[in-house]
Amino acid sequence: MSSETRKRILTGDRPTGKLHLGHYIGSLQHRLAFQDEYECFFIVADLHMLTTKPEKEFILEIADHARAIVMDHLAIGIDPQKVTFFLQSAVHETYELQLLLSGLVTVERLMQLPSIKDMAQAAHMEQTPYNLLGYPVLQAADILLPRAHLVPVGKDNESHVEITRQIARRFNNAYGEVFPLPEAYVVGGTLVGTDGQAKMSKSLDNAIFLSDDAATVRRRVMSMYTDPNRISADIPGRVEGNPVFLYHDAFNPNKAEVDDLKARYRAGRVGDVEVKEKLALALNNFLEPTRERRAYYERQTGFVDELLYEGTLRAREEAKATIQATKQAMGLTGVWNRISRAAEKRRKKAEAAQPVQS
Ligand code: TRP
Repeated sequence: MSSETRKRILTGDRPTGKLHLGHYIGSLQHRLAFQDEYECFFIVADLHMLTTKPEKEFILEIADHARAIVMDHLAIGIDPQKVTFFLQSAVHETYELQLLLSGLVTVERLMQLPSIKDMAQAAHMEQTPYNLLGYPVLQAADILLPRAHLVPVGKDNESHVEITRQIARRFNNAYGEVFPLPEAYVVGGTLVGTDGQAKMSKSLDNAIFLSDDAATVRRRVMSMYTDPNRISADIPGRVEGNPVFLYHDAFNPNKAEVDDLKARYRAGRVGDVEVKEKLALALNNFLEPTRERRAYYERQTGFVDELLYEGTLRAREEAKATIQATKQAMGLTGVWNRISRAAEKRRKKAEAAQPVQS
């Protein structure tokens, strides 16, 4: 399909660091599937990061995190020819559009969102900064600037796309048709951490990263949490909810082997070590092509920077056209035009009447 007829996707991540298997399950695997069918824009949402991590030390890390994110995408098989990666803070129209849209949603509506409260709580904030309250409006600007049709997000972000739709609808009704109404595409799947306690996350130190080498993966797997009641291999174990088997289900393509391990685990006829060894093998098999692609792109020094640079220029072009159409529809373009044209005319007249003295 040509790029003119394909629908457009906008999705992305805050640059908090390298990506792990939980990201693969929750979003990356879906992005792989999307890249052939849709025109994909992947945002590195660093302005969103400022809502909970405004400290300068974190800002100074953004460039490296952005590179790591893009590299992780390429490593899992995202095709740099097919998608556009861009850096949010370098698309200046984002700042403009967020402000222009901010009158189309109420403070009361934003304050009701559980996601805002959750983020404030996770960041140990007692009060809500203005930019955190505006998080969904900033996201609306991201989505509406490239006029995306489809927005793949996790369940926690679904309400933000809903708000974006509402904002777009209100804008179109109030000022004229500028924005297509974007639809959320809720992508699913969470992966429990290696500790079995919570969702995989870097900060909880329970993650296996896409960039981990084989020895690291093996080490992390061998120390994984399993059925705590099973103090020896002959005690029947619990498969359901057991992180080792959740990972087998997600990443081991050999279903017969997984079924056999489960049966023996339930019967108390297999040790944790064997189950984990087989999991480490399966994970490393899964990650091997990823490592090869990573090595391939790493040999091309500067490739990721150039990709992000070119993508950002491309996103800027889209954004410029949209902000222009937005201001035009609102009648804002004409305000300055009228003032400036009149002023210039007067200036020219004055210059003509009073030739420059030498
Ligand atoms: N809010 C997303 C997150 O949870 C990141 C993001 C920012 C985003 N802008 C977006 C996702 C636009 C989809 C569309 O990290």
